[in-house]
Amino acid sequence: MNFDRPVDRKGTSSVKWEWFKGEDVLPLWVADMDFAAPEAVTTALVRRAGHPVYGYTLPSDALYEAALGHIEKHFGWKVERDCLLFIPGVVTGFNVAARLVGETEAIAVPSPAYPPFLSAAKNARREMVKVSLPVENGRLVINRDVLEAQVTPETKLLMLCSPYNPGGTLLTKEELSGIVDFCEERDILICSDEIHADLVMDESRKHIPTASLSKVAAARTVTLMAPSKTFNIPGLGCAMAIIEDETLRTRFKAAMDGIVPYVNLMGYEGATAAYIHGSPWLKEVLSYLKENRDYAFKRLAAMKGLKPLLPEATYLIWMDARDLGVKDPAAFFEAGGVGLSDGAHFDAPGWLRLNFACTRAVLQEALDRMEKAIETLKSMPPAAR
Ligand SMILES: Cc1ncc(COP(=O)(O)O)c(C=O)c1O
Repeated sequence: MNFDRPVDRKGTSSVKWEWFKGEDVLPLWVADMDFAAPEAVTTALVRRAGHPVYGYTLPSDALYEAALGHIEKHFGWKVERDCLLFIPGVVTGFNVAARLVGETEAIAVPSPAYPPFLSAAKNARREMVKVSLPVENGRLVINRDVLEAQVTPETKLLMLCSPYNPGGTLLTKEELSGIVDFCEERDILICSDEIHADLVMDESRKHIPTASLSKVAAARTVTLMAPSKTFNIPGLGCAMAIIEDETLRTRFKAAMDGIVPYVNLMGYEGATAAYIHGSPWLKEVLSYLKENRDYAFKRLAAMKGLKPLLPEATYLIWMDARDLGVKDPAAFFEAGGVGLSDGAHFDAPGWLRLNFACTRAVLQEALDRMEKAIETLKSMPPAAR
């Protein structure tokens, strides 16, 4: 794959590109990649579209085998077929998980957070207990100590995001074990959103599924995974909930009843092709992304007023822009021609998130524009910023 070759996404109703339609703004916000999905995915979709009946569809044996095979091969986690439920999205999955706790119980949500985490407790009419994550040595940290200091006795569910978005923290075995021990001691369920599991930037490290740590971990964890971020097929709407504990699985299914639709048939087709044939593509895209990460990080770190965190995983750079001295950093860079995610939506005003899953040329242009925008501050009186 030549990831340098641009794919024109204009006119495809892309969320990322439509937002700034008609404006000269490079969209480096919502988490999808500007790259074509693996060719095998396109071939499978076109083939399926050639059959003109688009009825309700089941996940095939081939999909179970390919998805479970991928999880075992990449994370060394062997999961039984019965434990795997296909769902239309990971956000759906964690909103269902929020309904697993009693109405008087609370849900711990680490902050900063991927925005839909911040509304999951409210959607389920449960109390949210925010857990502020510190930045230590340029890394956003979630561990036992952080939870212990902030989680209340009413808390019965932890919304974990691993690898962490935003920030890109790849949790270590020690961090995960501490979190699991803490949850076991307090009888807290874990909803582990592992949608970014395949997007580890450092080849010497691996993502560890929370539930794979131990029997204790498996017994209290709902794992959410998906081929969507991995193979750039989020528009196909296919994700997975993996729940090894039978009682917990039955409760999860009951909470889904009547409100969660079947996965659409193209989602199944795309996921099957991606898991069977997508590994070489994934290897190549990871290497391209890693170069983009290093390039973008170096340039951002050199920009006055920005403090980026180096993501260990994900294709997203989380940065502190408070020292820029502008009221609204997202609006400031948008005026300079770069569309970033506004930290305010992640419960972190003054922070920004940059998606570097684009061609190097677009990334370079976006960073040039950001640099130029910062230059203009020199001649701008503080009151006007
Ligand atoms: C941590 C996290 N969870 C979930 C999602 C979205 O999942 P889905 O589109 O399957 O609902 C995203 C997308 O950016 C994400 O970053």
